[in-house]
Amino acid sequence: MAAVSQDKNGKEISRRYVNPDFPHFVHGADYNPEQWKHDRTIWDEDMRLMRLANCNEMTVGIFSWAEIEPSEGTFDFSVPDEILDKIHRAGGKVILATPSGARPRWLAEAYPEVLRVSPEGQRYAFGERHNHCYTSPAYREKVKTVNTMLARRYASHPAVIGWHVSNEYGGECFCPLCREAFREYLRKKFDNDIGKLNIAYWTAFWSHTYTDFSQIEPPSPLTDRSIHGLNLDWRRFVTLQTVDFMRAEVEPLKEADPSKPVTTNMMCGYEGLDYFKFRDILDFASWDSYPQWHSGDQEAAASEAGFWHDFYRCLKNRPFFLMESTPSMVNWHPYNKPKRPGMDVLSSLQAVAHGSDSVQYFQFRKSRGSCEKLHGAVVGHDGTEHTRVFRSVAKTGSILKTIDEVCGTAVKSDVALLLDWENMWALNDAQGYARDPSVKNYFGTLYAYESVLSRMGVNLDVIHPEDDLSSYRLVIAPMLYLTTEKTGRNLISYVNHGGTLLATYFAGTVDENDLCFFGKTPGRGLHELFGVEREETDVLYPDQTGKVLFEDRVFDVKDFAEVLKLSGGADALAVYEDDFYKGTPALTVKKTGNGSAYYQAFRGSKDFTEELLKRLLRKTGVRSCLKEAMNERGLLPDGISAHTRTDGKHVYLFVGNYEDRQSDVLPLGKEMLDMLSGEILSELSLPPFGFAVLKYGI
Ligand code: GAL
Repeated sequence: MAAVSQDKNGKEISRRYVNPDFPHFVHGADYNPEQWKHDRTIWDEDMRLMRLANCNEMTVGIFSWAEIEPSEGTFDFSVPDEILDKIHRAGGKVILATPSGARPRWLAEAYPEVLRVSPEGQRYAFGERHNHCYTSPAYREKVKTVNTMLARRYASHPAVIGWHVSNEYGGECFCPLCREAFREYLRKKFDNDIGKLNIAYWTAFWSHTYTDFSQIEPPSPLTDRSIHGLNLDWRRFVTLQTVDFMRAEVEPLKEADPSKPVTTNMMCGYEGLDYFKFRDILDFASWDSYPQWHSGDQEAAASEAGFWHDFYRCLKNRPFFLMESTPSMVNWHPYNKPKRPGMDVLSSLQAVAHGSDSVQYFQFRKSRGSCEKLHGAVVGHDGTEHTRVFRSVAKTGSILKTIDEVCGTAVKSDVALLLDWENMWALNDAQGYARDPSVKNYFGTLYAYESVLSRMGVNLDVIHPEDDLSSYRLVIAPMLYLTTEKTGRNLISYVNHGGTLLATYFAGTVDENDLCFFGKTPGRGLHELFGVEREETDVLYPDQTGKVLFEDRVFDVKDFAEVLKLSGGADALAVYEDDFYKGTPALTVKKTGNGSAYYQAFRGSKDFTEELLKRLLRKTGVRSCLKEAMNERGLLPDGISAHTRTDGKHVYLFVGNYEDRQSDVLPLGKEMLDMLSGEILSELSLPPFGFAVLKYGI
């Protein structure tokens, strides 16, 4: 899937297209023609509107099972046949969905085992969506049949460029089939030795010793949530079962055409599934992004979305798709505010800046009934192109055409941020520190790094702690409470080979079974790597603030402050200013060969993170892509962020203004081509919610 060529110095330039047969940005939307079957004039109108909206794609069939298999074994493909041909004739492409995200009534009636069972043991009735059992052989069989029919019929349709498998996999099922499959998973994992499991789960605590695998129940309010190792394994099992279900879905698609790329649409940081485990089964990653813009903190909304864009790009180390977004508002936020003029184009371009090769919406035409009838769409209930939202979508489409050469290019980053679902699960389970997971705020803590780096004009990769770190100048490992053996080795080897690592409080507390490390912590050899030993962890009430002294400045400490002992080779760079641990180290560094291991023992304020990252970037030689525009704090002006993509020969610089006011004048430091106006610029000022795509040669 990579088109490789060479530049004048023989350096390889590669563009990686999601589908090399369609090497262009995809601009489209979820499309549900079956909702308009009773008035087919709408279909032709939609083709006209698709072209007018500068869209070149429709995602079809996501919830169409009842349409294509109205009764068991009876198939009717007349709607997709006609729709796919219409889209093709209109010059559009199709991402075709498998329909397992919602099943028809007949299936639930004939095979009640497909219905999910709640943690309390109650089987749900038919209804809603995304609520089937992933273990059920009947569900898998029926999905396989319908997917096979779809694949054989449409894999070689000229409009179809890829597969959208199911829709937002998620949830868990507590039916007898899942419970038995879970026990089977544990039997394998623990070599059928219940003694091993008892030790791993520390079950002598509260007399919870198992004598047989058949006694194991998934954690639920009716069973046991006190065994943290069990909780972790249940979540791992749910992930594996879902991945296995997806694998079964993909098989018939690949049989029909191995080259047609598959994806499934993911949900930012959905906590129920370890998305890293989907890596091998996806040809490309895609996700559904619905930030709460205009809710007061634009930078927070932008950095959260930017963080997940980075994650999905890194998941497959190639361009990803923004599979869903809203051109205006959603219908499920606490307040469903429409995007202000400019925001839709800006948030779409933000995705592209971070490596998306598509901008897609939910949905093309707004439903008239049911629960999503007031959700934003490209075409509203007025049914015309004469709306602000439609014009904005058309504008995005025309911009994507203008910058089409950016499609397939890479995002290069010298800085990596480590993210781990298992760590988040264990951390949220931990009943120490602050009980409420929102105080630990794992994801939020990670977003803060994205936020600061965006304001510094530095690209960021978001990767797993066990991934290859060797290409990064700086690796940031926040709150790595659960540290696997492989992660421990990876971090140590990274620093030994000259890397700069920043880890923070909680690192190396528990192992893969959620058992605390015995002896000195951070465990897994990290206390030697950092040259520190953690003695205690202080927790601050929300209204309390501690102080640290760093670089002759005093910074705030919030929530958590570990008390450290230096244990060989480390220097204190910051010390606490108050409480019983006044004068003890709060930030340390230990040099090993060419590498440096920094340990930050407390939760710092944003200005501390800015100061520390500024220092670390300087030390590691990581440069801003817009350094001439930085202010005296080493940041871009408020609301401005900058990112780059590259084909190896050129840099494509994306600058966005997330605030509702004209930006300052930003000096560019050299002449660059403004890809939208065609002008050569050496400085730039962006309108409210404005952005620019600039190009220069390397
Ligand atoms: C997504 C889902 C879509 C639609 C959308 C509304 O999570 O995949 O089908 O419901 O939300 O925002």
